[in-house]
Amino acid sequence: MTDSPVPAEQLDHLWSRLEDAPARASDPFHTPVLGTVRAADGSCGLRTVVLRRAERADRRLVCHTDTRSSKVADVTVSSRASWLFYDREARLQVRAAGTVRVHTDDDLADAQWHASRLSSRRCYLAEPGPGATLDGPALTLPAALADRAPREEEAAPGRDHFAVLACTVDAIDCLMLQYQGHRRLHFAWDGEGWQARWLAP
Ligand SMILES: Cc1cc2nc3c(=O)[nH]c(=O)nc-3n(C[C@H](O)[C@H](O)[C@H](O)COP(=O)(O)O)c2cc1C
Repeated sequence: MTDSPVPAEQLDHLWSRLEDAPARASDPFHTPVLGTVRAADGSCGLRTVVLRRAERADRRLVCHTDTRSSKVADVTVSSRASWLFYDREARLQVRAAGTVRVHTDDDLADAQWHASRLSSRRCYLAEPGPGATLDGPALTLPAALADRAPREEEAAPGRDHFAVLACTVDAIDCLMLQYQGHRRLHFAWDGEGWQARWLAP
């Protein structure tokens, strides 16, 4: 981020950062916090996820998850979701909000499944699924796959549990920390373009 931020440049820079993050595990934007409205009690459900795709043209942020996880139940009841990113070195907090669609059985889900590593696909073989109560600290992956990634055909049953959460973002809030005083820039999608506003930090 520059010293004299121009909103359009800031937004451009931000989307570049988001688009770069999925490919770089060390990027602080690689693992945002995803917030949903918990279906169970209306509270705020938060969890770390891996950002798998960011597409500025579609205003879309994408992560993968297990269909059995509570976040899928959450967004089925309330499709609104929030994302929180923080880059300590750049002293930049980004919050984004939007509407989530769950993809399980379409071209996007198929493409993301096939693009994912076998070691990632292994997670979807867990039994029981995320959030189930266990008798003790049991491991839920198949024992044969405890120390290795599955082969393609071994991973295939996991496809039934695989979901892509695609969030179309309509608000972005950037907080730029600076010794001289912080700056906060808010972008709202008005249906045709992004409207920028400076806010008191
Ligand atoms: C670094 C890290 C990355 C994670 N990435 C994902 C992810 O991409 N998708 C996912 O469903 N869970 C991911 N998790 C696990 C979630 O944080 C969470 O524990 C799990 O999805 C269950 O969440 P839920 O019950 O709120 O649905 C990740 C956890 C960590 C610590």
